[in-house]
Amino acid sequence: MLDTHSIMYITKRPEVMMTLGEGSWLTDNNGKKYLDFMQGWAVNCLGHSNLGMIEALNKQARKVFNPSPAFYNEPMIRLADLLTSHSNFDKVFFANSGAEANEGAIKLARKWGQLHKNNAFEIITFDHSFHGRTLATMSASGKPGWDTMFAPQVPGFPKADLNDLESVKKLINKNTVAVMLEPIQGEGGVIPTTIEFMRDLRALTKKLGILLIVDEVQSGCGRTGRLFGHQLSGIEPDIMTLGKGIGGGVPLSALLCTDAVASFVPGDQGGTYNGNPLMCAVGISVIEQLTAPGFLESVQEKGAISSL
Ligand SMILES: Cc1ncc(COP(=O)(O)O)c(C=O)c1O
Repeated sequence: MLDTHSIMYITKRPEVMMTLGEGSWLTDNNGKKYLDFMQGWAVNCLGHSNLGMIEALNKQARKVFNPSPAFYNEPMIRLADLLTSHSNFDKVFFANSGAEANEGAIKLARKWGQLHKNNAFEIITFDHSFHGRTLATMSASGKPGWDTMFAPQVPGFPKADLNDLESVKKLINKNTVAVMLEPIQGEGGVIPTTIEFMRDLRALTKKLGILLIVDEVQSGCGRTGRLFGHQLSGIEPDIMTLGKGIGGGVPLSALLCTDAVASFVPGDQGGTYNGNPLMCAVGISVIEQLTAPGFLESVQEKGAISSL
């Protein structure tokens, strides 16, 4: 029996410790090997112990861990450039978790609403969606039972039905500032949006001057065979969040937006570890590997096999 009495109980775990990760395999403290289908909860997009990531981490660790977010650092700038060069976005803020990136997206949309839409603040989200475990992101999520769990919720997140444009239209009013969705609902049961719905939603939000936010914490970073899931429908959202895969196993997430939406001023947004060079160095290695010639094509080929 493991002595785990100091660990706060939040979930039931098996009576083993994982001690080694190699590619698709995990090994526990008894030497038992497991073929790892979870990969860190949809995080390790390059498997365990990827050599490029290890090298990037080692190299950066010998330079500087944490100059503080008050300064620029090289990995932060390079990773932001990489992400904007592979998307329609212009600006990037780095954070540590998907929930934190989504909190940033919610704040950014509300800020934009204060400046450009007469203080509109409501963000339409979807039934069965999942956006994280902070109070605001739990309120944005459409997970059954979460509305009462830590009541009262943060207000301003009416829920529509996925792939049903009429249900979105019904919720739009003068307070609506944005619509936020996962291009593929992950925790909700791997439910994809249709290309038609994404295109219609983009057209509708554009026409009404409402922001479109895509939460690509789970659908981003190569998992759909495109670098970002919304690229399957060819739309250009206003805001995107990334998490999980962008760090390939280290705590890194990102909030991206277009120039037109970037409206934070000093004091609005921050966080001790934002743009941490150790994490961003790993993120560069991940994105460079995902965008290397042939990589995403190989994901598409494997996807075609698994859907046979
Ligand atoms: C779509 C989506 N958004 C946000 C999150 C929250 O990310 P994190 O657990 O890193 O806070 C998750 C996690 O599963 C997710 O799937």
